[in-house]
Amino acid sequence: MCGIVGYIGRREAMPVLLEGLHRLEYRGYDSAGIAVVYRGKLQVTKTAGRVQDLRDRVNDKIKSNVGVGHTRWATHGEPNEINAHPHLDAEGHIAVVHNGIIENAEQLRAQLTTAGVNLVSDTDTEALAHLIAGELRTGGGSLEDAVCRTLSRVEGTYGLLVIDVRHPDELVVARNGSPIVLGLGESEMFVASDVAALVRHTQQVVYLDDGEVATVRANGYQTRTLDNQRTSKEPTTVEADDGDYELGAYEDYMRKEIHEQPEALRRVLRGRLEDRFATARLGGINLDPRELRSVRRVKFLGCGSAYYAGQMGAVLVEELARVPADAEPASEFRYRNPVVDPDTLYIAISQSGETLDTLMAVQELKRKGGQVLGAVNVVGSAIARECGRGVFLHAGPEIAVASTKALTNMAASFALLGVLLGRVRDMSAAEGARLVDGLRALPGQIEQILAQEDNIATIAGQFAGADHMFYIGRVRAWPVAREGAQKLKEISYVHAEAYQASELKHGPLALIDASMPSVVLVPDDELFAKNISTIEQIKARGGPVIAVTSGDLPADLADAVIKVPHNTPELDPILLTIPLQMFAYHTAAKLGRDIDKPRNLAKSVTVE
Ligand code: AGP
Repeated sequence: MCGIVGYIGRREAMPVLLEGLHRLEYRGYDSAGIAVVYRGKLQVTKTAGRVQDLRDRVNDKIKSNVGVGHTRWATHGEPNEINAHPHLDAEGHIAVVHNGIIENAEQLRAQLTTAGVNLVSDTDTEALAHLIAGELRTGGGSLEDAVCRTLSRVEGTYGLLVIDVRHPDELVVARNGSPIVLGLGESEMFVASDVAALVRHTQQVVYLDDGEVATVRANGYQTRTLDNQRTSKEPTTVEADDGDYELGAYEDYMRKEIHEQPEALRRVLRGRLEDRFATARLGGINLDPRELRSVRRVKFLGCGSAYYAGQMGAVLVEELARVPADAEPASEFRYRNPVVDPDTLYIAISQSGETLDTLMAVQELKRKGGQVLGAVNVVGSAIARECGRGVFLHAGPEIAVASTKALTNMAASFALLGVLLGRVRDMSAAEGARLVDGLRALPGQIEQILAQEDNIATIAGQFAGADHMFYIGRVRAWPVAREGAQKLKEISYVHAEAYQASELKHGPLALIDASMPSVVLVPDDELFAKNISTIEQIKARGGPVIAVTSGDLPADLADAVIKVPHNTPELDPILLTIPLQMFAYHTAAKLGRDIDKPRNLAKSVTVE
């Protein structure tokens, strides 16, 4: 969703800001804007279009060493040029870019209007620009002081970046619930809402905490809390570098990320497989064997694909550790006054670490004394920081809206957790060794699946004309079916519905005819024969079937077959997921969709 960039230092700010905004495009946005200080004035350029349009509009003659930029996802007011950020105060001294939502915006806007201020946009952010200017006028002090006094009147979430044309040697930033990261350079500093915007320039970063404010100058920064306590921050080195954000030889990020899965999986397993004791090592969860044994239940919380990964995790944990486990959408959990059990281990799952619903679920859990771990990809993100401990997914930057490699690493992490919880209980060393071997085999097996891309693309081409599809799985493969249907819907806009194989005859079988293809998941496990009979039932009603299997199916049973290697049955679901990503990708490609940026969706959902 919205993105923030800022620069102060020795180079020309404009190209740095535009490049930073370009890097944030993947998050989804509807308008963009930029403000730099030039000859004692703020020079503002905005567009209700793309960053390229902004690039075309800026005046190349403007040379400046300090500025701010923004990509906006409309919340208050429609996506047009006036509502695009930056927003200025009445005199044009202060420019503000803002991510998040100011909940008392209406009240603040009304107060400003009563005081005679003419608000030109419909946004909550514009109110902040006027309020900061007012605080400077009436209360004096530094820009930082005025920002702090303003924020003490504000309810809501913000990542905020402010510039004052009268003090072009500093930027002021603040954070509450919406990420802000500072990039440390040589006689220059960068500000962003996402490290993607600054890794090209530096890998040394400082993440602000909620309630923290910083004044950033070319030669450094200082931080404090809103109530004026100085804080000290340790810089962190970002794992990713600029190359991780490049497309390279790929036509889009989703295909690139699908093909990065073997390497991403090797990273998430590195150092976490313990052959000597046939178990897994997850240092970040910070639980000793006694504490692990006292876990009575595991509950996974996430949204969208992260929720489906949680469902895969619940099946794994229950099966491997014999600990009751389930998954629930964090977006529902946060609204239903959940009973929080101190003996349950809650796992908050998120690629971005910014999904508001998941963050709110974590905060609710913490308020009620629940023990919550994060399973998060982005280090330094809000959910990772709120949880304080957990499992980093090490999938590398995921740019495409459709999650692929992060989901695979989520499922693999939950397999590690299942082994760890299992081995402090009744799982034998032999069983532990079987799973450790199975996990180690996964990256190579995924490479074998990726090598079948041409075949999967051909099958996708054969079925790309369908308006609706079923995804059928049972038990271990049921979350895989849900995730497969989600991928198809998301990027191809073909309606897809996942069903448990066992439930077909209780209703949805009525929908089966020649126009309703079904993707049926047939792992080579104890339910293999049952799944074959599911295919026969569909075929008997004239329904086309694409079977995805790790077993040997009778010849001519299905209309198309995608084979995956056989691992241990508990881990087969991870392998079955990969062809479904490729099938969705090639269906969307065949239909000419904008695969990386599907309509109406954003990469991280940071608003309600
Ligand atoms: C996945 O393909 C989707 N884009 C979406 O469901 C996503 O998984 C969900 O919004 C959660 O995102 P998160 O993992 O960043 O929290």
